[in-house]
Amino acid sequence: MFFLAFKVHKLAENSFARFVVNPMMMYCLPRTRMAVRNATYRTYFSTLQQSAPQHDECRFLLILGKPGGGKGTISKKMLVDFPQLHHMSTGDILRANVRNGTALGREAKFYMDEGKLVPDRLIIDLVLSDSTPMLKEGKSLLLDGFPRTITQAMALEKEVNVDLVVNLDIPTETIVERIADRWIHPASGRVYSYSYRPPKVKGFDDITGEKLVQREDDKPEKVRTRLAAYDEATAPLVNFYDERGVLETFQGTKSDVIYPEVKNWLKLKIL
Ligand code: AP5
Ligand code: MG
Repeated sequence: MFFLAFKVHKLAENSFARFVVNPMMMYCLPRTRMAVRNATYRTYFSTLQQSAPQHDECRFLLILGKPGGGKGTISKKMLVDFPQLHHMSTGDILRANVRNGTALGREAKFYMDEGKLVPDRLIIDLVLSDSTPMLKEGKSLLLDGFPRTITQAMALEKEVNVDLVVNLDIPTETIVERIADRWIHPASGRVYSYSYRPPKVKGFDDITGEKLVQREDDKPEKVRTRLAAYDEATAPLVNFYDERGVLETFQGTKSDVIYPEVKNWLKLKIL
């Protein structure tokens, strides 16, 4: 059945695809949202629709925003209220690759340390290949940090239908202050802020007691490069998803004030 579904997905490759959970099989299968004339697919899909209630569908959510705009912070809050979401942060994945000295990590490190975007050819394959196992488990995805260019967005759109996009619009001066105050535990990616979420002991991780460090790309000149990359390459995605009717923008300076609005919107929409 799974093989058949994938074959049909290939037949309908010009249409937008999304994934639904088949509760009998406990993993996501691709489906098209446009009319599909292929009879084999129609038979398969009608069976699937009968057995898969709407609320069990896998969901694809994106969180967009400037560097240091609170994407990771808001994502963590979303995971508490919507535990069916699986959080995938491309920044975290890339940093793990850098730490582990993989070929990808070695290539990406140069761009990341400079505050530049890594090339599309590296990140698109990474995201699509990492998401597949989660989809097979029937998990809904929350992508943080992807897409970041129109090319990435188009590549994603070929594979899945994006359901909702949370766009965080935070003033640049707030971001600069926050980034200067951010400390991380490199092994786990845990994030602290001395003013907002301080560790129990200054300079040390709460769980392991290991030393906290500042990210290489959090130095002021690198932050400027990252903000410029956002304006040039990523900001156009706001219109891209707005035109598709899936985006909502949340403005403010405090994640604790913004988050309840995000939560209410998500509850209204699908979750
Ligand atoms: P990535 O790790 O995604 O970095 P980023 O987008 O620059 O965003 P950050 O993770 O720095 O910030 P955030 O928005 O998650 O904010 P946070 O919650 O931490 O990417 C790093 C690099 O990887 C990129 O520069 C690029 O090179 C590469 N890369 C990744 N994806 C890519 C892609 N798709 N294509 C190409 N290259 C890619 O919050 C920030 C701080 O604020 C924290 O200290 C937090 O504690 C604090 N804070 C949050 N809320 C509050 C509050 N209410 N009050 C005070 N402080 C607060
Ligand atoms: Mg982050």
